Amino acid sequence: MSALITHRSIEAICQLPQVPELRLPTRSSRGFGLRVPLGDSLARRACVSWGSHARTDRGRRSVSYSLSRRQEPGVLVLAGQQQEAQRVLDEFREACATPLEKLEKVVDSMVLEMEAGLAAEDGCLLKMLPSFVENLPKGTERGIYYALDLGGTNFRVLRAVFGGPGEGCMQESEIFTIPHDLMVGESDDLFDFIASKLRDFVLRETENKSPPPGRKRELGFTFSFPVMQTSVASGTLIHWSKGFKVAGTVGRDVVEVLREAISRQNLDMEVAALVNDTVGTLAGGRYINGDVMIAVILGTGTNACYVERAEAVPKWKGPPPKSGIHVINTEWGNFGSPTLPTTFADDDLDRESVNPSEHIFEKMMSGMYLGDLVRRVMLRLAKDAGYFGDSIPEKLTKKLALTTPDISKMHADDSPTLEVVGEILKKKLDLDPTRLEERRVVYSIIDIIARRGARLAAAAIVAVLRKIGRDGKSGNGTSKTVIAMDGGLYEHYTKFRDYLNEAFVDLLGEEAAKNVVIELSKDGSGIGAALLAACHSKYGSQ
Ligand code: BGC
Repeated sequence: MSALITHRSIEAICQLPQVPELRLPTRSSRGFGLRVPLGDSLARRACVSWGSHARTDRGRRSVSYSLSRRQEPGVLVLAGQQQEAQRVLDEFREACATPLEKLEKVVDSMVLEMEAGLAAEDGCLLKMLPSFVENLPKGTERGIYYALDLGGTNFRVLRAVFGGPGEGCMQESEIFTIPHDLMVGESDDLFDFIASKLRDFVLRETENKSPPPGRKRELGFTFSFPVMQTSVASGTLIHWSKGFKVAGTVGRDVVEVLREAISRQNLDMEVAALVNDTVGTLAGGRYINGDVMIAVILGTGTNACYVERAEAVPKWKGPPPKSGIHVINTEWGNFGSPTLPTTFADDDLDRESVNPSEHIFEKMMSGMYLGDLVRRVMLRLAKDAGYFGDSIPEKLTKKLALTTPDISKMHADDSPTLEVVGEILKKKLDLDPTRLEERRVVYSIIDIIARRGARLAAAAIVAVLRKIGRDGKSGNGTSKTVIAMDGGLYEHYTKFRDYLNEAFVDLLGEEAAKNVVIELSKDGSGIGAALLAACHSKYGSQ
């Protein structure tokens, strides 16, 4: 007679009289339970055959496992399980490692990809999309403009009144959540929903906030997905990202799609500018600080744009811009390179995503994915080391059951017994109770994944600085460069931000890092889009 023993049933077994040693010939299907003959008394030491992790014990392939008593009274675990968890964790940590030399290689290969993307339209990982933005705000803009900011599960509508030189601006905005079925439904349904909220917002306009007679309302449309711009107010959607998969939009001019929806709502409004959120953030940053050269988003998704010299864009076929510059949307989320430290968790996540093989870089470091990467490593621990219960916890198999805000809270837990980690594992994954060892392992996984993501983000920013000769190693090293940064990941995830800043200084060196300032530009993309509508208004903005 035999029985399957798991760490949850060890307590009972250990009440039995002990024998010095017991040989166990089989491995359970989950690779963890011990099959032992009942009737025999049980041992403190058990030898279990264990495939590749086995070592030879008196000529047999076997490995020793000790039954050890936990810190907490009355509960026992197999030391073997902890060792196996440690092995999974160590391997994962090694695969995610980003020592400085590795980060340097990421920077180098990203700079090469940026150059390739500026030289040719097709076949490059980094699309390096010219934004057609010729005029960046100067702080002198005047008038009432609208913005619509669509880029994640929430979208924002905004009314801004710019007062002219030195007068600043006043703004009102409203946020709406997009129902999930619209994120994966039909194009017209999504845009009708958005346009109807925009109309409701416009209808609440008071008289002193209406455009002067004879002028149409003008809108800056922030659309935070990869778009091949064809003018400052038109552009074709290349593909969706961040969990959106709406049928009928890819390949179409998104401004046209929005215009049609606006007119179905009988709304009198013109789209004056189509901008990526990075470009909106750059414009919002420039309104208050002329040194802003780069804008970075670290939020649900990730991306950067920057100010490039016109002659550094060989693929540009239009007339040379009068300003002498192009604002380039890098779409760095789509970066991929053998230099990236990818793991089984990244491969699984990509394979099961709505956009496999796309936005590999984004999937390693942005807010939409970090929590899910952690869940996937936990799932591996449940499968390989029998962690988190006798059977694989149901919620642990569910995509996005753990979010980045969850892991950010757990990462901030500095209590000795990791109470917050325990609470969130209980609330989000129904793991209750968890052992301290388990909570510690979860904390380590979070730390590994967040650190890797933050360091890769730092490398990407340094690549852009290097591209424009502002990394302190080449060219214009002593000018001050300001990076406008937006996104919840950077704003709210303190440990992520600390790791990013640390790697940034390591890569640039302390001296060069003093010339680069990262400034948080909260929700700058909406106001930036309104500003770009002003800068490109057909009525003039001054
Ligand atoms: C999109 C970018 C966007 C970024 C940040 C990415 O998924 O492709 O266009 O700028 O997310 O929102």
